[in-house]
Amino acid sequence: MVLAKVSFFLLIILFLINGSSSTTFTVVNQCSYTVWPGLLSGAGTAQLPTTGFSLNSSEARVISMPASWSGRIWGRTLCNQNATTGKFTCVTGDCGSSKIECSGAGGIPPATLAEFTLNGAGNLDFYDVSLVDGYNVPMTIVPHGGAAGVGNCKATGCAVDLNSLCPEKLKVTVETAAGVAVACKSACEAFGTPEYCCSGAFATPNTCRPSEYSGLFKKACPTAYSYAYDDGTSTFTCSGADYLITFCPAPSPSLRGI
Ligand SMILES: *[C@@H]1O[C@H](CO)[C@@H](O)[C@H](O)[C@H]1NC(C)=O
Ligand SMILES: *[C@@H]1O[C@H](CO)[C@@H](O)[C@H](O)[C@H]1NC(C)=O
Repeated sequence: MVLAKVSFFLLIILFLINGSSSTTFTVVNQCSYTVWPGLLSGAGTAQLPTTGFSLNSSEARVISMPASWSGRIWGRTLCNQNATTGKFTCVTGDCGSSKIECSGAGGIPPATLAEFTLNGAGNLDFYDVSLVDGYNVPMTIVPHGGAAGVGNCKATGCAVDLNSLCPEKLKVTVETAAGVAVACKSACEAFGTPEYCCSGAFATPNTCRPSEYSGLFKKACPTAYSYAYDDGTSTFTCSGADYLITFCPAPSPSLRGI
């Protein structure tokens, strides 16, 4: 345990002094439980050499990102491999591949998503943490080394345990722990109406408004996307940064209010 903690801090130091020109993601698991990150490249972008792996508590993994990558990273929780069938499944964020690698499949909602477009418009990296597809695990993105004064290059995410704040109607529970949410659905997923899903007559920024449910997410995590048109306060940009993606970030002064 002590060794794991030491290597974890070494990785953080490596992250801070990394001077290479390509973008690196350092994915850290500070949860007390194992998280299985999944990675999905956006349409027209090749899948990464890894599309899913396991990250023990206090473990970290550094991933060197291709230039102009776009896609998402999320955490899968409560995973295991069935001893009889060999199938790997997760209670939250499962990608349905039956393996640890997601191989081009996305996570099944609800799942907290870290979304990136590297070297997008104006050579900026665009990134956000989205709760539009619901929430399963606390997650933050902290940029490091971005060009000074360029973009809105700040930490974002949702460090709060929204499962414990999840309204009854949105809770995802497991049989073994009745009433305890392991994930929290979006109102769109729970109710499927155009109003909550920003579809049909509600498919514009003017007609799709925050709901009492998205408002609850927004209040808990002001910098995360809470519904489809929540762009104003939820998209961040950096130039030439590396990114620290943390599951269950410890509350710290710099992350308060995220
Ligand atoms: C992760 O934890 C499991 C179970 O405790 C252990 O068997 C495995 O070696 C650990 N992996 C790493 C990379 O530390
Ligand atoms: C493993 O899979 C079999 C066949 O689908 C199922 O009956 C069994 O309950 C599973 N075991 C566990 C521990 O989930």
